[in-house]
Amino acid sequence: MTDRYAVIGNPIQHSKSPLIHTAFGSATGQDIEYGKIEGAIGEFAATADAFRAAGGKGMNITAPFKLDAFAYSTDRSPAAELAGAANAIKFDGDRVCAENFDGVGLVRDVVHNLKRPLRGKRILLLGAGGAARGALLPFLAERPAELVIANRSLDKALMLASIGSEHGAVTGCTYQDLIAQKFDIVFNATSASLRGELPPVHAMVFLPGALAYELAYGKGLTPFLRLAQNAGVAHLADGVGMLAEQAAEAFAWWRGVRPDTREVINRLTVPLV
Ligand code: ATR
Repeated sequence: MTDRYAVIGNPIQHSKSPLIHTAFGSATGQDIEYGKIEGAIGEFAATADAFRAAGGKGMNITAPFKLDAFAYSTDRSPAAELAGAANAIKFDGDRVCAENFDGVGLVRDVVHNLKRPLRGKRILLLGAGGAARGALLPFLAERPAELVIANRSLDKALMLASIGSEHGAVTGCTYQDLIAQKFDIVFNATSASLRGELPPVHAMVFLPGALAYELAYGKGLTPFLRLAQNAGVAHLADGVGMLAEQAAEAFAWWRGVRPDTREVINRLTVPLV
């Protein structure tokens, strides 16, 4: 029998998750159907209940329901606990298991697809919101020489750094504090690119051979990537690989088989121009 999954968000029409999971299903021979649900704000639980009652096996969750999905769950992974947010849930009898694969998906894209190990490197993470929070422990698990979190509001950067400090070398600071510091990889985890804005990072933060990684995807050359390019950075990436890898993690969690992501990444890549 065909097993049903869906992504829920609002808005949802531009979600790539149905395309990705349908491709994974075909490639792995798994009999699944994957749809999209535009959830009504404030009604996550009722919508998830209805999907479950109709035989749904699991869901991906996107904005603005990641916190609601976390609250709805009965069992939470450490990654979901840390983020306080779920991007995937699985129904198991009475239980609702919550996961958050954004951070592991990001690390897998950087280390495996882009072949840029984080171990021993100087890493700069711009932003201290939900996206940065998801990346925190997966980054530290790779044992970078140092992880610096820069944010406009210093208190949020310091709070994330204190959460991470048991797990590795991590500090929080403002953008002004970055003067005279340089990094091997700079991640833009702010939401600035969604509005075509540039976080106030200076162009000297990139070490020779650095990688500039934009967590947003499908936006071409964002202001952050343009800053990096103008500074002479040759290695630029957006979050298309992260999107595909977090999806593959969820698929493997639901189905017990990990799909290859290459074809999906090639299909969804938007040139960085
Ligand atoms: P998300 O879950 O997508 O990370 P969020 O929790 O609203 O979204 O966090 C947004 C992040 O982007 C924050 O770190 C925010 O910085 P502040 O905490 O100082 O507000 C950051 N951000 C948004 N717009 C920005 C901009 N134009 N320049 C720099 N940082 C920006």
